[in-house]
Amino acid sequence: MISSRSVIIAGNWKMNYGPKAASHFAMEIVPKLGQLTRQNPGLLCILCPPAISLSPVREVMDTMPSPRLELGAQNMYFEEKGAFTGEISPIMVRELCTTVILGHSERRMYFGESNELVHKKTLAALTYGLRPIVCIGENEAQHQAGQTEQVIHTQVQGSLAHLPTELAKDVVIAYEPIWAIGTGKAATGKDAGKVASLIRQLYGTMYGDESAVALHILYGGSTTSENCHHFFSHPDIDGALIGGASIKHDFVEIARKANTMV
Ligand code: PGA
Repeated sequence: MISSRSVIIAGNWKMNYGPKAASHFAMEIVPKLGQLTRQNPGLLCILCPPAISLSPVREVMDTMPSPRLELGAQNMYFEEKGAFTGEISPIMVRELCTTVILGHSERRMYFGESNELVHKKTLAALTYGLRPIVCIGENEAQHQAGQTEQVIHTQVQGSLAHLPTELAKDVVIAYEPIWAIGTGKAATGKDAGKVASLIRQLYGTMYGDESAVALHILYGGSTTSENCHHFFSHPDIDGALIGGASIKHDFVEIARKANTMV
């Protein structure tokens, strides 16, 4: 992590915690996370509950507002409004959130999201003033076959090329090797860092050095309070996108560890 970039600790709650349970959990963790972000101007924590639970979590956050403790959605459509049953728009997300996760591997795998669609969503998020966390990463077979670099290249190009240069620096990229998600088999800090460095380099060729230096890159995949320091200590990794551990108190522990390292 370098000092000009914040450390971002984002929790992807996935399809866990409906409105009541989300509110309850938020009441437990928001004061603790708020305390950390108040202490440390370099730390940004983002909670990403399911869409139906955004409002109740927002309400809890509003009762104890803290700088740099923010709310994010897990997905959105790129259109502003209209006949798109079941979808939420960037304008709707913006009412409650600063951030949106896009192109998570589960969206790509189970809901057929392509790089092209992720690109449209990313552009829409940036246009409406949201911070997109765009997820990329290779699957097990690609990892075994030594194709990681190629896959990352294709995904960065396909999901993130041709954005307006002045907006490109606001993108956050989460490197999430699919084989590490929810498996308990995290990547090593060294390997994740190598891919993060590659992503920064690719971004530099697309948008110039200034955008590449400003770009936040997160690691995701079986991150816990036990292993997170391996990632946070790499100069090209600026935090984590956390699944399983984000619906437990371990999320606060991870934020605490990040706090000591910023
Ligand atoms: P995990 O999920 O931390 O449970 O592996 C990460 C993610 O899917 O973002």
